[in-house]
Amino acid sequence: MNNVAFIGLGVMGYPMAGHLSKAGKNVSVYNRTASRANDWLKEYTGIAHNTPAGASQDAEIVFTCVGNDADVRNVIYGDEGALAGMSEGFVLVDHTTASPELAIELAEAAAEKGVDFLDAPVSGGQAGAENGTLAIMVGGEKEAFNKAEAVMDLYARAATLMGPTGSGQLTKAANQIAIAGLVQGLSEALNFASCSGLDGKQVVDVISKGAAGSWQMENRGYTMVEDEFDFGFAVDWMCKDLDIALKVGLNNGSTLPVTALVNQYYREVQSMGGGRWDTSSLIRRLTRIS
Ligand SMILES: NC(=O)c1ccc[n+]([C@@H]2O[C@H](COP(=O)([O-])OP(=O)(O)OC[C@H]3O[C@@H](n4cnc5c(N)ncnc54)[C@H](OP(=O)(O)O)[C@@H]3O)[C@@H](O)[C@H]2O)c1
Repeated sequence: MNNVAFIGLGVMGYPMAGHLSKAGKNVSVYNRTASRANDWLKEYTGIAHNTPAGASQDAEIVFTCVGNDADVRNVIYGDEGALAGMSEGFVLVDHTTASPELAIELAEAAAEKGVDFLDAPVSGGQAGAENGTLAIMVGGEKEAFNKAEAVMDLYARAATLMGPTGSGQLTKAANQIAIAGLVQGLSEALNFASCSGLDGKQVVDVISKGAAGSWQMENRGYTMVEDEFDFGFAVDWMCKDLDIALKVGLNNGSTLPVTALVNQYYREVQSMGGGRWDTSSLIRRLTRIS
């Protein structure tokens, strides 16, 4: 697996593809906005192509990391799509957070060409992608996972096969459900501290070392106090993820009341112009109201 392709050089894909290049892989990249691919080439060694099909032509393994279901279809299907450039025995790995139904659809489309498919959403944020410490949750066949694991390990702390196709996306949905309520709780705590006249940073210093500590508190608590949200995981993506989780929840018998509520709160942040703000901007609803 020395010839690899990476499609989608966004906040996540850019550094992930960079790790592949730094590890000595022959990396072909494609990005819809060509200037972003050109920036990547100034920083890393590789070849940029004008289409996903061109990038995946000689790659034994092709990674995609774009926005939502429609974006994935856009880069995978059609004459210029990644599948068009792939041959039997190749592996297609989608790192986009997308729906489990899309994963099943893509696995079937890939199988028609003899290509293996893995749904492999990631967690760990921009810092996890840059530091190569992502958690990757994978759905698909064990044989395909075995082919891709060593390559994904170049930017992961752990890549774990969760079950058949779609299991990676279902695990990611559980991840987002867990985060949604937590970020709202963190927002309420920090806004409460501020309204009480406490020093927000000192509050984070102290309570992050106790039972309330979390990844969100350690990585986002201080920037929330500073009202900084111009980085990280976009609110638009969180709304997409919670919509996916709520749709699955309707069919699998689970109840998701807090997730549904926080999804509405994120819609408010979107209407405040915060679609591209980091998800920790949930606190802005409260600071506006208080
Ligand atoms: N950011 C995070 O912390 C994080 C963490 C975990 C998971 N994720 C998930 O990872 C995925 C990527 O997130 P990101 O933060 O990297 O997003 P991003 O910065 O917005 O980048 C999105 C990438 O997808 C490309 N793209 C979008 N729509 C496309 C289309 N229709 N056709 C072709 N290319 C298209 C964009 O190309 P252009 O440059 O041309 O716009 C860009 O390269 C999302 O599913 C997100 O939910 C993100």
